[in-house]
Amino acid sequence: MQTFTTISEIRAWRKENPRVAFVPTMGNLHAGHLQLVREAKKRADKVIVSIFVNPTQFGVNEDFSTYPRTETRDCELLENEDCDAVFLPTVETIYSSNAQTTVSVSEISQNFCGASRAGHFDGVATVVCKLFNIVQPDVALFGLKDFQQFAVIQTMVRDLHLPVELVGVPTVRESDGLAMSSRNGYLTENERKIAPQLYKTLQNARENLATQTISDVEKSAISELENVGFVVDYFNVARRCDLKLVTENDDDLIILAAAKLGKTRLIDNL
Ligand code: PAJ
Repeated sequence: MQTFTTISEIRAWRKENPRVAFVPTMGNLHAGHLQLVREAKKRADKVIVSIFVNPTQFGVNEDFSTYPRTETRDCELLENEDCDAVFLPTVETIYSSNAQTTVSVSEISQNFCGASRAGHFDGVATVVCKLFNIVQPDVALFGLKDFQQFAVIQTMVRDLHLPVELVGVPTVRESDGLAMSSRNGYLTENERKIAPQLYKTLQNARENLATQTISDVEKSAISELENVGFVVDYFNVARRCDLKLVTENDDDLIILAAAKLGKTRLIDNL
């Protein structure tokens, strides 16, 4: 596996390879990330993964400084997956000191995680746009665990006519249902036992939708989570296509949830 830290190295490598698949990450890789790499391998001759803890997508009181950085182990895991290249840029490589441009995707960034994490999706859209321009992949893969993030990136690619195909990969879970996440490592032993309830509550809510109103389904899901110790950020049923409020004629729905257990914020959807 080749390791690159500069844009010029990526440019040279890109020229040699006709079809490239790209998996952007913030590192601390787990089986969810590796699933994206496996899917990427099916779709191109060469696979490149970026590992970059992007400062602009973290709020002031969020975990940028403590976000787990495990580069050596990450590279070993990628090597085992037969990944072709890894891009490990510094913050200065991605953000020059006089940078003035931000990519902001308006409507779809506003609710849910966008409402509780001001500026988060601008940070995500900006860094993904920059990474796309550096790597110039034919196809890029993202996890559907971060469903709103995927929707924001789809909207950006459509609006800016970016020549990249996007693939959303289903959520990889622990055996007890907890969606894999780098932030699961923050959970205490007791919180880790409670955490799978988030997915169970999503499954209960899906079942209840057959017989109850959306508002009742949301309310009982929130109390179910609060009863076991979660502080719920949001639990909502939305239209899958644009994450807007459900109207009478909609039947393609998504249930989105974010909740805190102690200091750890977990998200999931169904
Ligand atoms: P990160 O949280 O490291 O996730 C990188 C990619 O892995 C994202 O597309 C995410 O949705 C996917 N992923 C994470 N957990 C997953 C799981 N359990 N199953 C399937 N896929 C999973 O998301 C980011 O980084 C950043 O916001 C990034 C897009 C890299 C921009 O900085």
